Amino acid sequence: MTGAAGGIGGACARECAAQGARVVAVDINAEGLAETVRMISAAGGEARAVPTDVSDESSVAALAAEVMRVEGAVHALLNNAAIFYGKTVEETTVEEWNRQMAVNVGGIFLTSKYFLPHLRASRGAIVNMSSANAYFVEPSCAGYCATKAAIIGLTKAMAIDYGKDGVRVNCICPGYIDTGLAQAYFDVQADPAKARAEAGKLHALWRIGQPEEIARVAAFLASDEASFVTGTAIAADGGFSTGLPPK
Ligand SMILES: NC(=O)c1ccc[n+]([C@@H]2O[C@H](COP(=O)([O-])OP(=O)(O)OC[C@H]3O[C@@H](n4cnc5c(N)ncnc54)[C@H](O)[C@@H]3O)[C@@H](O)[C@H]2O)c1
Repeated sequence: MTGAAGGIGGACARECAAQGARVVAVDINAEGLAETVRMISAAGGEARAVPTDVSDESSVAALAAEVMRVEGAVHALLNNAAIFYGKTVEETTVEEWNRQMAVNVGGIFLTSKYFLPHLRASRGAIVNMSSANAYFVEPSCAGYCATKAAIIGLTKAMAIDYGKDGVRVNCICPGYIDTGLAQAYFDVQADPAKARAEAGKLHALWRIGQPEEIARVAAFLASDEASFVTGTAIAADGGFSTGLPPK
């Protein structure tokens, strides 16, 4: 579980642990990871933290080696780590573009590359976190939208390549979810408080989502309950993508 230090990833880690999974919580933020592990342990679940930079090949290779050394097998890989720059193409530096691609898309490439041999052995599943922004874009987040669209393509490609081995690969496209990343988007709008208030109205359900509502979808896709679901991008967006927002 990458990006497990908080937000949606923290909720996914807690939900999977609550459903009986032994969770390896992965993030670049060691402090946040410790808090996720503490919460899971306090609830009677099993988890441990492995601080990792998903954009760094040696870090991901060390993660895979550590997981296999300690756990001996892996049944699901949840790729959730991402960064967000609230910028147009002209405002984005080359370094920011490369970093965002390296974390959001490159991270999924690297973890998949290193865990697929083990997922083939377990006939396991990969769940990638895309976004409604993959196909329903908004102003001032061009690079982010590009990464989230790329994740859908990568998901489908891996589903085709590894389906014959029994490995399922899906992604989730959340609408606005109440986390620090959503707040980062509001913060770069002209009036952050108004942007936050208006965001709920972009969804058919007239509210933004909670991390736990995405976590339940992720746990389903990672589980055998989703045994005939692969290569798909599931909208968990409160109706954000249905068309014109209600006014
Ligand atoms: N919050 C939303 O409204 C929303 C909507 C759609 C999709 N998403 C997606 O959900 C996922 C989680 O977002 P969130 O809202 O919980 O944000 P978040 O910022 O709380 O979570 C992202 C996590 O990724 C970690 N991370 C960043 N770079 C990393 C790296 N190099 N290696 C390892 N970990 C790294 C961060 O430390 C953080 O814990 C992201 O993929 C995001 O694009 C979020």
